[in-house]
Amino acid sequence: MSDPNARLRFITFEGGEGAGKSTQVELLAGRLRAYGHDVVTTREPGGSPEAEKLREIILSGKAKDFGAFAETTLFSAARIDHLRTTIEPALARGSWVLCDRFLDSTRAYQGALGNLDPRILKALERVVVGNTMPGLTFVLDLPPEEGLRRAQMRSRGHAPDRFEAEQIDYHRSLRRAFLDIAAAEPDRIHVIDALMTADRVADIVLAQVAAAYGLEMV
Ligand code: TYD
Repeated sequence: MSDPNARLRFITFEGGEGAGKSTQVELLAGRLRAYGHDVVTTREPGGSPEAEKLREIILSGKAKDFGAFAETTLFSAARIDHLRTTIEPALARGSWVLCDRFLDSTRAYQGALGNLDPRILKALERVVVGNTMPGLTFVLDLPPEEGLRRAQMRSRGHAPDRFEAEQIDYHRSLRRAFLDIAAAEPDRIHVIDALMTADRVADIVLAQVAAAYGLEMV
């Protein structure tokens, strides 16, 4: 019988935009594979054919007008399919699963920033995620100014205007939300300073994974 309290080999990466989550997913996957592990990389919203269809709808902005609760049910519908068709089968066959965003994004974006009732959030987590909680989560933490700078670089580096100055507050709240979420679950969630180089962040991630799962990596 497997230990019900054992950490799942399910690791999620969280944080604001431009923090380097997808890079870290790939770097950790490469390193685990180099040690002979089987690894599945995935992302949310999306990560399965049906959930990717919902991703398009959600990210098109069409769902936003329905409000945080309805939007959360769409994220939940995508997550149900993602868990059932991608994450749970991979874990069952002994693979690691590394996911770019998961339920902590719902807690931050729809919960903290969208003011979704915490009781609804909790109830959804229980029925949607159940016991398939990530064994380890990394929050890649970045000062809001840097997140915005990186986002601007991606959108061709135009100068900040009034609208973008307002966005600083949004990024600040998001950062605060992720730090609060991390502080509430210190055993699962580790905060990493994403101002460091990607390789340095990846070294820290690997060291923490090795420690949390008792892996020998030399
Ligand atoms: P994406 O383009 O993947 O952003 P990023 O590169 O920052 O990961 O878009 C995902 C967006 O969806 C992002 O703004 C965060 C948001 N999101 C939620 O609001 N709730 C959720 O539960 C998830 C998984 C994502």
